[in-house]
Amino acid sequence: MRVQGLRTTLLTLLALLTSAFGSIYEHAADLPGLQYDFVISICAGGTAGLVVANRLTENPAVNVLVLEAGVSNQGVLDSNIPFFVNNLLAPNIYDWNYTTTPQSALNGRVIPYYRGHILGGCSAHNDMFYTRGSMDDFNRYAALTGDPGWSWDEIFPYFLKNEKWTPPADGHDTSGQFNPAVHSTYGLTEVSLPGFMWSLAPRVIQATREFPDEFPFNLDMNSGRPLGIGWLQSTIGHGVRSSSATAYLAPEFVRRGNLHVLLHARVTRLVGGRRADHGELMFGGVEFMRDGEPDSEILVAKAGKEIILSAGTVGTPHLLMNSGIGDKRALQALGIPTLLDLPSVGTNVSDHPVVGLSWMVNSTQTLESVTQNVTAFSEAFAQWNRSHTGPFVDHGASQLGWFRLDRNASIFKEFRDPAAGPDTPHFELGFSAGIPSIAAPPEGMSGHLMTIGVAVVSPVSRGTITLSSGDPLDPPLINPGYMTSDFDLYTLTEGLKRAQRFLTAPVWRDYVLAPTVDLNAFTPDELQQFIRNSTASTSHLAGSAGMSARGARYGVVDPDLRVKGVKGLRIIDASVLPIVPSAHTQATTYVFAERGSDLLKASWT
Ligand SMILES: Cc1cc2nc3c(=O)[nH]c(=O)nc-3n(C[C@H](O)[C@H](O)[C@H](O)COP(=O)(O)OP(=O)(O)OC[C@H]3O[C@@H](n4cnc5c(N)ncnc54)[C@H](O)[C@@H]3O)c2cc1C
Ligand SMILES: *[C@@H]1O[C@H](CO)[C@@H](O)[C@H](O)[C@H]1NC(C)=O
Ligand SMILES: *[C@@H]1O[C@H](CO)[C@@H](O)[C@H](O)[C@H]1NC(C)=O
Ligand SMILES: *[C@@H]1O[C@H](CO)[C@@H](O)[C@H](O)[C@H]1NC(C)=O
Ligand SMILES: *[C@@H]1O[C@H](CO)[C@@H](O)[C@H](O)[C@H]1NC(C)=O
Ligand SMILES: *[C@@H]1O[C@H](CO)[C@@H](O)[C@H](O)[C@H]1NC(C)=O
Ligand SMILES: *[C@@H]1O[C@H](CO)[C@@H](O)[C@H](O)[C@H]1NC(C)=O
Ligand SMILES: *[C@@H]1O[C@H](CO)[C@@H](O)[C@H](O)[C@H]1NC(C)=O
Repeated sequence: MRVQGLRTTLLTLLALLTSAFGSIYEHAADLPGLQYDFVISICAGGTAGLVVANRLTENPAVNVLVLEAGVSNQGVLDSNIPFFVNNLLAPNIYDWNYTTTPQSALNGRVIPYYRGHILGGCSAHNDMFYTRGSMDDFNRYAALTGDPGWSWDEIFPYFLKNEKWTPPADGHDTSGQFNPAVHSTYGLTEVSLPGFMWSLAPRVIQATREFPDEFPFNLDMNSGRPLGIGWLQSTIGHGVRSSSATAYLAPEFVRRGNLHVLLHARVTRLVGGRRADHGELMFGGVEFMRDGEPDSEILVAKAGKEIILSAGTVGTPHLLMNSGIGDKRALQALGIPTLLDLPSVGTNVSDHPVVGLSWMVNSTQTLESVTQNVTAFSEAFAQWNRSHTGPFVDHGASQLGWFRLDRNASIFKEFRDPAAGPDTPHFELGFSAGIPSIAAPPEGMSGHLMTIGVAVVSPVSRGTITLSSGDPLDPPLINPGYMTSDFDLYTLTEGLKRAQRFLTAPVWRDYVLAPTVDLNAFTPDELQQFIRNSTASTSHLAGSAGMSARGARYGVVDPDLRVKGVKGLRIIDASVLPIVPSAHTQATTYVFAERGSDLLKASWT
């Protein structure tokens, strides 16, 4: 170990004795120095960043600094209690408060774009759905990059390494609700089935028996073959959210003397850019300051081995461009000197648009029985507090369904099938027993509801992340380009029809009373306008620093996640997924982070 490393270790021991949070620091002055082997900048301790920090520090000879702009997750009830899922959304200290640019295909609407500003990143404030995507999704990543290491078969062990399968909070018999053969109990992220049964859930399953051809039951959507309707699995353990912060920064890991996490540390750019022996660009470290205090001192953390960016699909391209890595003309226009002309940074981003539909139901056993009743709400809170059981252990979603358009759908005359393969869905239906948490019921509605979210999961639309100015503290411009392709509009329309057809199964006869918006009263043009007016984001943005084959004419990182043309700089987060998977994106982010950690270890032993 180098002298510097030794000094760092000694100082760390000292810091451990004095800091209440082990090696999670609130102030830069408390850090044991600013020289580390790996600086996971920014990663902020997000979903991927904390996986990498954990795995690298398994080796006590390696020291790691994580710089997270956000706040601590410790004791944040709105993050811990699954039922409070919406309480953390913007504007809020737990969120970056971003919005999209006016969306041309959504009648110019500007919509919120949520990003976690808390240790654990989005995993500490997302909806906790645990979906792995299809085998095809991963096999396409392997084909696009020429690296079989990203194929389903090779990635599958990383799902098992990440996952800790956990019994549901109500301890119910889960046989017939999942396939144990595709799960593991030895990982870190807790995953479980719903732990509180609302009146909706058994009816969804009954409907799959009544309409098995169009809506088949799928025992386990996380087998790599997701098509059909199955029970939702969530990153929840024993009634509490499992985030990358609770799992990968559990006390036994925080205790490691070589792992340092600084909160409120806003990274502004990579610094010390120079040309290495073979002309490759290299950086010495990252510049950061206290988050939310633009006049605070600017500090530099130096990385002896590598810098890893894990700032997420918005933060990572933002940092790259602020550091002079991006499209030369765009950087020049903002007065940022270009260190590396890499035009794909921030382009080609993809996301899943979603429209929610609600129906009044003939049941009092819905989320509204808790959200609209102060007494029931306090009882549920007290029950969760006492035993981590009761209505607060979930947020009311019970099943998901994954579907393809009809083979002969007219849209295929105009578009090639954008799905990754024949086992990959075009759209998703998500079933919820009401309207979760603080989200207000539709205007003028009271009573009990059910909701079906319809999302396009093989979108053709693409968008961009660009800079709004040369000031790294200014928010970037987020343009997901929702519905800019007619394919996506067509698919969402078909998804809405499919949801309506599902509700014609006999089981719904005494249950579904009336829709809150009657789609059948719309002309086709009005229906299209309704979709444009009500499309929301799933926050599944991917691809802003996309992976491509070595030597490809586009892309930002090579298949080993190294930034093309730069030495000692990797990106490990959802930005590298070249195309959004046909699934909620956290499981994919976790496995990319797990394999990314192995790639890092392999190059430093
Ligand atoms: C509201 C919401 C709901 C979602 N629901 C689901 C779901 O149910 N299931 C699912 O699978 N996926 C869901 N997702 C998506 C999923 O959570 C994300 O795709 C995934 O967590 C992204 O991980 P990441 O590591 O790429 O980024 P993040 O987790 O966002 O991590 C990035 C981190 O970097 C920090 N950071 C950024 N810039 C800087 C900077 N300059 N300096 C220092 N730190 C910085 C951020 O504060 C953050 O902690 C949801 C996302 C959101 C926002
Ligand atoms: C988001 O807005 C809230 C309320 O205005 C504010 O308190 C919070 O600091 C903002 N978050 C960030 C990251 O700036
Ligand atoms: C509200 O909840 C309490 C406690 O569960 C219950 O006794 C009461 O009947 C509920 N009120 C209404 C209007 O449903
Ligand atoms: C939760 O339990 C603690 C004691 O364990 C108590 O102080 C607190 O008031 C309880 N909160 C609620 C909402 O029941
Ligand atoms: C597609 O085929 C089905 C029968 O398999 C038929 O009912 C439907 O009308 C066809 N749709 C189109 C757009 O041709
Ligand atoms: C509501 O459900 C009950 C059975 O639980 C049934 O008797 C009644 O007819 C239903 N009401 C409507 C309007 O469907
Ligand atoms: C869509 O929104 C516009 C206003 O932006 C409104 O004029 C129109 O009636 C809305 N249409 C539907 C079907 O919601
Ligand atoms: C976007 O990604 C696709 C592969 O998914 C690639 O073929 C295309 O060249 C990329 N475009 C840009 C501008 O990077």
